[in-house]
Parts: sequence; C-alpha cells; structure tokens
Amino acid sequence: MEVEQINKGKYEHYMQKEIHEQPESLTTTMRGRLIRGGSCKAKSVLLGGLKDHLRTIRRSRRIVFIGCGTSYNAALAARPILEELSGIIVIMEIASDLVDRQGPIYREDTTVFVSQSGETADTLQALEYALENGALCVGITNTVGSAIARHTHCRIHINAGCEIGVASTKAYTSQIVVMAMLALAIGDDTISSQGRREAIIDGLFDLPNKVKEVLKLDEEMKDLAKLLIAEQSLLVFGRGYNYATALEGALKVKEVSLMHSEGILAGEMKHGPLALVDETLPIVVIATRDACFSKQQSVIQQLHARKGRLIVMCSKGDAASVSVGGSCRTVEVPVVEDCLQPVINIVPLQLLAYHLTVLRGYNVDQPRNLAKSVTTQ
Ligand code: F6R
Repeated sequence: MEVEQINKGKYEHYMQKEIHEQPESLTTTMRGRLIRGGSCKAKSVLLGGLKDHLRTIRRSRRIVFIGCGTSYNAALAARPILEELSGIIVIMEIASDLVDRQGPIYREDTTVFVSQSGETADTLQALEYALENGALCVGITNTVGSAIARHTHCRIHINAGCEIGVASTKAYTSQIVVMAMLALAIGDDTISSQGRREAIIDGLFDLPNKVKEVLKLDEEMKDLAKLLIAEQSLLVFGRGYNYATALEGALKVKEVSLMHSEGILAGEMKHGPLALVDETLPIVVIATRDACFSKQQSVIQQLHARKGRLIVMCSKGDAASVSVGGSCRTVEVPVVEDCLQPVINIVPLQLLAYHLTVLRGYNVDQPRNLAKSVTTQ
C-alpha cells in the first residue's frame, strides 16, 4: 500500500476522501479492460481473468450472485444488465441465507462471489458450499490474494484501491462497473445486442467525468443533511436499476449516521409501506430517466397525495416535471446509460450519509459496532 493512499490528504475523513476519489477509482477499475475498437473492430471488453472460462459461463444454466451488504447491493444493481446481455437466468443470494437454507446450487451454475475484502466469513462459507456442489466459482474482490480470490476458479479484481472507511463507497461503484463489464463480456458473441453494448462501453468511458459532475452536489447534500439532522427515520424508494440504489443509500445512512433508514422497492409501496407516509417522515424517491420513469412519476403523485415529505432525485432538466408544482425538493443528477445510472445515483446518497454523520457528531470512519472485514459469523 502506498503511503499517500493511506493519508487523508486534503480530506477530514477517509469516507469523504473515498467518495471524492471515485472518478479515479473507476478509471483504474476500467484501465486496460475497455477496447475502443476501430474501423473494422467492434468496441469490446477484455477481462483477462475470465477469458478461459467465458464459454463455460455462457453455457451455464444460471448465474448466481452471492454476497453480503454493500457487495450484494452492487450485484443487485448489475443484475438487470446481466440478464439482458447474457439471456441467462440470474439469481441473487445473500451469502448467509444461501448457507442457512442449503439452497440448490448445481454443477451447471456459475456462482459469482462479490466481496470488497475477499475475507467475509459468510461469503467464504457460501463459496465452500458452491465448490462442494460443483459449480463454477468466479470471484469479484478488491483484495488481490484474499481468501475469496484464492479459492475461486477464476476472478476479476475490482482495482478500486484500498478502502479504509468502514462504509464501502468507491468499492461499490467499482463493483457495479466490473459486473457491467462482465455482462458485456458474456454477451460479446451476440450480434443483435452489439449497438447496446457499444453504447454502454461509450458510457463507461465517460463515466468518471459524469461522477466528477455529480460530486459537485456536495454542498447541496450538506444543506439537505442539515435539514434532516434531527429526523428519526428516512425512507428511500427506488425500482428497476435503482432498487439497489435505494437499498444501498439506506444502508449508508443507517450504518454511519445511526439514523433508521430503509430502502423500499417502489413497486411494493401499496403493499405496506404506504401506511408510514405522513407530512413528517422524509422520503427520497429515485426517479431518474429509464424504463421505470413514468411508474416513478405516479409513485410521486401518490406519495404527494398523502402529504409525503418528498426529496426527488431526478435527471438533469427534470426538476420542474417531477416536483409536483414545486412542492418537493429535488436533486438533479447527470444522465448516463440506464444500466450505469446506479453508479451516479448513489453518489448524492453517499454524500448525504457522510454529512449527516458528521453533523450528528458520530464517527464516520468507524461506525459503532462495525468492522471493515467481517471474518466471523
Ligand atoms: C457496508 C459494508 C458492508 C459490507 C459487507 C460485505 O458499507 O461495507 O455491508 O459490504 O460486510 O463485505 P465484503 O464486501 O468485504 O464482503
């Protein structure tokens, strides 16, 4: 580890530094892996660690993502693009739950173990279980030489650089990018999706610039944190690509600011959560442009009709159309390809969690009761 990597530099906390480092960490994650193409060569992705296994992966019956916490959320964010580009069934498993259930894992499965540290006990136990069941095991970790990196059949390193703050931030966005590249690599032999893949690759090249842009919301998120400082609870509604953003945003808020927060699948709103809505409970609704946008507009209308206290995250230029006559607070974010939007949308929520914690006077880098690497069950 380089000394300057461990220094906080101009930042007060590691979490703050790691949030602001994301344009660089994403660049490092993609370095040497995106091929620009040329006059007669298509744009593509090269994942060295997987190249001997891609044919097996393409033939697998299911892809099973396995992880805990933030790593699970990153896989959930990447699930739709993996389904779309691979055409393979993609299953999500929380590592401890898979082990508790002894859920079915088959020889024809590709299991993908996602872990920042590569040492998480629950994920390691699930890996042992998948190996016993004969599945192909792929590791996605940020730690070269970690147990998960060593025991999987093949691996992709996240290369986000060392993360010191207990709350995972830059590793999360890099994990999503790695899994988007995995989807591109698996789908690489399909002519019909070539246009879509090339658009995503162009989007990946531009992503660090877009993250730089969204980081400019820092002051705005600090102001929002000042407004929310004394709240008991914060709900985050998302769906589609941004269901994961809702879960991850809420996880960041709860783990560092010690405020209760829950990520909710907006499609489930009427099946229970609506009962919580009143004029006091703050609710973040993620309503950036994608195939679910009109459904999220209707969610906003319904929450507004029940006097919900809304903060709407929308695409640049959409504030007027989502704020129901200017009655909700809005946070505008830059637009990227739909499957990469979770990388952008989580940044304001990371900043909000950070500022809430500092304003509430808690330890942002080492939250109460938590450890960076959870090596016991
Ligand atoms: C939250 C966080 C945890 C970890 C989880 C798994 O910010 O960091 O939820 O994501 O403990 O850890 P890894 O990714 O190391 O397997």
